Order: sequence, then structure tokens, then C-alpha cells
Amino acid sequence: MNKINTTIIAIDGTAASGKGTLAKRIATHFNYAHLDTGKLYRGLAYLVMRTNTDNNDIDKIISLIPDLHNLDFNNPELISTSVSKTASIISALPPIRQQLLKYQKDFPVISLQKGFAGVVVDGRDIGSIIFPDADIKFFVDADVETRARRRYNELINKENNIDYKSVLSDITQRDYADKTRKVAPLIICDDAIVIDTTNTDIEAMVENAINNINKLL
Ligand code: DC
Repeated sequence: MNKINTTIIAIDGTAASGKGTLAKRIATHFNYAHLDTGKLYRGLAYLVMRTNTDNNDIDKIISLIPDLHNLDFNNPELISTSVSKTASIISALPPIRQQLLKYQKDFPVISLQKGFAGVVVDGRDIGSIIFPDADIKFFVDADVETRARRRYNELINKENNIDYKSVLSDITQRDYADKTRKVAPLIICDDAIVIDTTNTDIEAMVENAINNINKLL
């Protein structure tokens, strides 16, 4: 058990690996609160673009953070290719990560106050930086072509001029940026359970993860 006296499940992984689906399903199964931290970076990227803010204007980007409280995180724009690209750029900026740290770290405490016995938090640095003492850590991955195909299928009805090759190239570039950035790069923690979703169907993946959690808690 971590210091907050609640259960924390950390899920990290590559883009379109299925980590978000896994997080949602685990949260529903155990009635835990769920935080998709990618949505914080995507939400901020959306605000940056909507206000024509320069990707390097750190002070201006920080000034937009309070507006996240009024943002609709279900806005389909948040998964667009352009928002994904901007999110990848601004998430590599140390002051931006620092500013979003508190919100993420407070999430289990606030969720506990709301009556949730645990939380599921997914992202890139959850097990390594945000909750290094999480009760259970998962790392979700799949081969890049499988992930690109999934993202392409997600975007095909939403964006014009979308083609598989450019989605594959975007995901490859984002993997590289996420894994090589100086601050909070995507890594596999030593104590993480690795799940490869390349050939696994979603139900089997969820069942397997829930079995692991039941064994460990
Ligand atoms: O998981 P996602 O594709 O929705 O994440 C969007 C972007 O935000 C991605 O480029 C990585 C970044 N991100 C991050 O740096 N740290 C997190 N904890 C979550 C996401």
C-alpha cells in the first residue's frame, strides 16, 4: 500500500497500445476513479492551438492551464493528428510537466474524498515519476504497425486526407519523442507487468490484468 492509503494502479505505454481501454475497464471493474493523463496534455495542446499560442511560449502555455477545468475532455478534436503532434511537443517541456504534476499527484487524495477506494492512472510516466510507489504497474505495448492500424481506423471517419502511411510515420515519431525526451521519458519500470497487445484480444487482456491485480492486492 502506498502512503495515501488508497490503491493506485499505474498504466504506462506507447501511443494506441490499448492502455486507455485497459485503464477504463479496470476502473469500471473495481469501481475506481480513472485519470487519463494524456488528455491533460492533449487538452492543453488544444488550448494552445485554439489561442494561436507559440509551442515555445512557456509562460503563455502555463497561463492556459487553469482553463483545462472548463474544457470538454470528450471533444473529438482532442484525438486529432494536429492535437497529437502539439501534445507531443509541449509534453517534452519541463516547466509544463512540472505544472501538471500537482493535479496528477492530488488525484488519489481527491478521489478518496469522493469515496473511491482506488484509482487507475494511465500515461507515460505514471509508474516512474508520478506514482513510483503505485501498488501495481502495467506497461502496455504492441508492434508499431498494429498500433498505427488501430489509430488509422479510429481517425478514418473523423479526418479528411488520412492515410495509413502518415499515421504510421506520426506514431513512429511520437514513440521516438516520448522515449528519448530528457524529462520523464517513456520507460518500462523494473516492477511493471508488461502486456503485449499485438495479438491479444481486448477481453483476454482485461481478464489477464484483473487476475494479476486480484493476486497482488
Ligand atoms: O496517451 P496519449 O497518446 O493520449 O498522450 C498524448 C501525448 O501526451 C503524448 O505525446 C505523450 C504525452 N504524455 C506524456 O508525456 N505524459 C503522460 N503522462 C501522458 C501523455
